[in-house]
Amino acid sequence: MIGSGARRILITGGNAGLGLALAKKLSGRHKILLSGRKSKAEVEGALPRGCGYIVADQSDPEMAALALIGGIRDFGWDGLDNAVLNAGIGLAAGEGIDSTEAIRRTLDVNLAAAMLQAQALYPLLRKNRGTLTLIGSVVHTGSATIPAYAASKAALHGLARSLRSEWKGQVSVQVLHPGPAKTEIHAKAGYDPGWIRALFLEAGDMASMMASAIASRRSPVTLSWARYLSGGAYMGRRL
Ligand SMILES: NC(=O)c1ccc[n+]([C@@H]2O[C@H](COP(=O)([O-])OP(=O)(O)OC[C@H]3O[C@@H](n4cnc5c(N)ncnc54)[C@H](OP(=O)(O)O)[C@@H]3O)[C@@H](O)[C@H]2O)c1
Repeated sequence: MIGSGARRILITGGNAGLGLALAKKLSGRHKILLSGRKSKAEVEGALPRGCGYIVADQSDPEMAALALIGGIRDFGWDGLDNAVLNAGIGLAAGEGIDSTEAIRRTLDVNLAAAMLQAQALYPLLRKNRGTLTLIGSVVHTGSATIPAYAASKAALHGLARSLRSEWKGQVSVQVLHPGPAKTEIHAKAGYDPGWIRALFLEAGDMASMMASAIASRRSPVTLSWARYLSGGAYMGRRL
């Protein structure tokens, strides 16, 4: 049941994987608005009850930011407590060399869209003294198999540091770096992790760690097996 402490939370990439798992965790207590590339008809039935949905294709970063702002306004919100910029793609590179198309698409969806969304959402977050959360990855320090993806996540790390200092006292900014989790992102990327997938964290456990990291407002936060084994999915702050 949604009580008086309910927050207004936007999650991009909320129709699948970690974003959807986070929405499922939070939708009983908070008001949730999700976005994704797919149409409303495609995701209907998959989203938690009561969640709103905005179509915003981040391969066109400017249009995606406009769609997000329009969708939030149409939903009747004039402020945001949390924006979780989680939508992302990876594309496996042949022999470590990304194609030009893969570089452009990865940087548009993962980085340019998030930067424009952060700017566009700033007034709404400032109004509620809210928190902007960027979803990075443990590979922000570099990975041979997915260079463009790793570069996009490294840039989000830098962006979070910049905005955290720029918006200090008005909007909290953080970057979370998940380790591997069981979602479809690897298959969509054209990468088969093989037996190693068995070692990936469950999406629901990763979402629990994301929720408590968001509540803490700390940055950067690495969400890996080490954190999980020290109780990260069950202890810590509750959002
Ligand atoms: N899973 C992992 O192992 C892992 C590890 C570290 C970091 N991460 C990060 O966690 C975030 C979520 O990943 P995930 O594993 O949940 O991936 P996922 O299951 O593939 O879900 C990705 C989400 O992003 C959305 N998205 C993709 N392309 C988009 C576009 N062009 N415009 C708008 N939305 C788009 C998808 O929406 P549509 O379905 O509508 O395309 C979907 O909701 C990503 O930023 C990823 O880099 C994941």
